[in-house]
Amino acid sequence: MTGSSAGGDLQWRPFDSADAVAAAAGTRILQQAADAIAARGAFHIVLAGGSTPGRCYRRLARADSDWSNWHVWFGDERCLPPDHPQRNSRMAAQQLLERVPIPHAQIHPIPAERGPEAAASAYRTLIEPVLPFDTVVLGMGEDGHTASLFPGQKHPPDALVVAVHDAPKPPPDRVSLNLPALNRCRRLLFLITGAGKHPAVTAWLAGEPLPAARIRPDGGGEVLLDRAALGDSRVPRP
Ligand code: 6PG
Repeated sequence: MTGSSAGGDLQWRPFDSADAVAAAAGTRILQQAADAIAARGAFHIVLAGGSTPGRCYRRLARADSDWSNWHVWFGDERCLPPDHPQRNSRMAAQQLLERVPIPHAQIHPIPAERGPEAAASAYRTLIEPVLPFDTVVLGMGEDGHTASLFPGQKHPPDALVVAVHDAPKPPPDRVSLNLPALNRCRRLLFLITGAGKHPAVTAWLAGEPLPAARIRPDGGGEVLLDRAALGDSRVPRP
């Protein structure tokens, strides 16, 4: 599905396996890091939670990059203590951030342990001067959610960061970057794998307004998905 006039297009790229998706994502992220650092001296990346992004981070941890110029942000966070194993920041730390020499001060977890409202407000103040991000990485849930933007939940459309309550995926309290922040990027990558995602992929391609389908990145981007997620659906022509 292509984007609207409000943002850049998303190109759909099917791969044979989840590993191939992770490898392709890793290659793109490393190239975008090199380009950003060459052009502006810094690479601002937004990381996602979830198992598919996690697989990509494990690969990245084995790669060479100019890590000292990486600045790491998060697309969403679960309102749990900072070291809780289900925090997205914890997963990213274990898979990538503790394995590469990114300066600690350049890693910016969402302070979700302070509660959704306080954390959303604090994080908005932090990200606003940084926009646009260089790269935004997103996953997609089986219901079509992305970051912690869930189907049927409404948020102020102009808010950069939102407090989330009653999330259908535990825990119920979360913090999420909202569409205007996720879209402010030079490049966006969706990583989608597994047969469980096939119904949401089908709905997205059929034009249903799922949260994932409402992403329109300013700089365009790609949906990297495996054959299991794509199933019998056809990707739109570029
Ligand atoms: C979270 C995520 C969420 C995730 C998707 C995909 O906090 O759970 O940020 O948006 O990326 O649910 O997760 P999987 O790759 O594990 O299916």
